[in-house]
Amino acid sequence: HCYCKKFMMGTNRLKSRNRLSISSTILQHRNNKQNTEAVGLEAEIIKRRNQACRSLLIQVYSSKSHNDLHNYCSRFGDVLSMHHYQINSQHVCQNYILVEFEDISSINEVMSSASFVNGDYIAPVKSSVLWFRKGQVAALQRNSKKKTTLSVENGCSLPTDQEIWDVSETFSPVKLVISVSQISGQIIVLYEALKLTDLEVRLRFHTAHHLEHYFSRLFQNMKVLPFGSSVNGFGRKRCDLDLVLVPDDSEEHNATSRLVFHSKSMRHNDRTETKEFLGILANTMQHFIPGVFNVRKILEARVPIIKFRYDYTHTECDLSATNMTAIYMTELLNLYGEIDWRVRPLVIAIRVWAKSQEITSDVPGQWITNFPLTLLVLFYLQQKKILPSLKTLKLYATRSDIRCAENGIDCTFLRDINKLPADYKYKPNQDTLETLLHGFFEYYSTFDFNVYGICIREGTQIRKPSRSALHITNPLETTLNVCKNVNLYEVNRIISMSHDAIYALETADKSTSSCWGIMTLLKVNNGNTNQRKLNSTEKQRIEEKFPENHSYEISDKFEVSEVNID
Ligand code: GTP
Ligand code: MG
Repeated sequence: HCYCKKFMMGTNRLKSRNRLSISSTILQHRNNKQNTEAVGLEAEIIKRRNQACRSLLIQVYSSKSHNDLHNYCSRFGDVLSMHHYQINSQHVCQNYILVEFEDISSINEVMSSASFVNGDYIAPVKSSVLWFRKGQVAALQRNSKKKTTLSVENGCSLPTDQEIWDVSETFSPVKLVISVSQISGQIIVLYEALKLTDLEVRLRFHTAHHLEHYFSRLFQNMKVLPFGSSVNGFGRKRCDLDLVLVPDDSEEHNATSRLVFHSKSMRHNDRTETKEFLGILANTMQHFIPGVFNVRKILEARVPIIKFRYDYTHTECDLSATNMTAIYMTELLNLYGEIDWRVRPLVIAIRVWAKSQEITSDVPGQWITNFPLTLLVLFYLQQKKILPSLKTLKLYATRSDIRCAENGIDCTFLRDINKLPADYKYKPNQDTLETLLHGFFEYYSTFDFNVYGICIREGTQIRKPSRSALHITNPLETTLNVCKNVNLYEVNRIISMSHDAIYALETADKSTSSCWGIMTLLKVNNGNTNQRKLNSTEKQRIEEKFPENHSYEISDKFEVSEVNID
């Protein structure tokens, strides 16, 4: 409701260049103000958003174009960094350079100097993604007074999911893990190889900025924020990009002005508004935003989303609206990842194990997803006294931590881990990652899911308040179960796969086989799991046929085995 009101406050149609420079100035001013107050993930998000505002994504012929491009860009202002990457798809190799300027005013200058291609009809939308034409370079280089002094982060290619696990590929975590002689070391190597690099994080924020820039031509005071594993530190290469469109409350309004914009009133309830709004947005995205392809509207879900592929980074994206709880959940998960260095490597190892055993899947269904799986790991670490309960984090919250999401959901908890009492920082439990991995499987292979549920907020198991096969209380909205969709068959698979994992870890002999330690956990299970092996068209059909399966709360009646995808 809030964002709709704000969106409809009027369309003060400034020329796009003026609009960009004004909003940039406001953003810089706001960032200066907020930077002094924000801590933790909030501060990181402000920094990354500011970086994205000062960056352009430029397609070039090859990595060798970087000198020409640097010379050319330097005409518009000082360049802070350049990051080259390649995308290989269907035997076509595309090269991109992400150019970060020191000052946002340089972006305005580049934008006003750039042109559109001639010829066929195109939708002329100015954006921060451009193409560096061949042939113009030499002439411009002569005119350029600045010298190329910058080194380029070069040669990074964004791997496909298949390439990540292909041992013959240069980049293969499997290859790296094999060479390590301790399980704890294997887990760290796996984590380091899979976690998002600085460039990948930049590109995710740039994508959000790209959409936000386009939407700002239509509506006032809104921002697009990445959330989920792209920012909470549990993300791994090729993970999806979760985005949310939220009102930008930090923009200052001139309450004293007597002139107020005429605006449309909204007569529907919030949900209908959100659905209609996202529906319209999806159409404009499909037709007008460069790089956005394969747009799908999943509007019947509890949290309606637009799914699309972002071609410049080959990333699958989900865009939702006014979902501030998801942002606060991201902050919470990030905080848990910050509290102890073992959390993130352990979570990544268990996520990878779960994917290889087909416990999780990219397809929505009656199985557990990465988010609740992460909660299982966090809960286990609470039992080991490595992580505090959310109740404790709430206890130490200060005034600056007070947050309230939609529907009055209280999302207040301590944001600054430096303010956590020493007892919680210096833990008696110094178990190795190997012990914790083993312990995780032991804990859940014997957990009585039949009777008990998991509660991160209390940090203790609770009696299951519902008949769901798996109950994990939503830490921020305690009346909800984030695993309402999971059926008994899947719970039993988690238990039996945990037993198998213990056996595999204990019996694999590293002196006789290269497949030992966590390598034994990454072998794909050949059991009866064919129902998950769907191609992308089939996945899309399931998404469209069962949009409610994307919701955070899913109908108990849905049976994936009954889905006739033909
Ligand atoms: P991957 O994308 O699989 O790497 O993990 P992710 O943590 O990003 O999970 P996902 O994309 O499924 O969801 C993105 C974020 O949405 C999560 O991190 C949570 O903050 C939130 N989320 C996902 N599922 C639920 C749910 O069932 N309930 C609630 N309240 N939030 C959820
Ligand atoms: Mg995600």
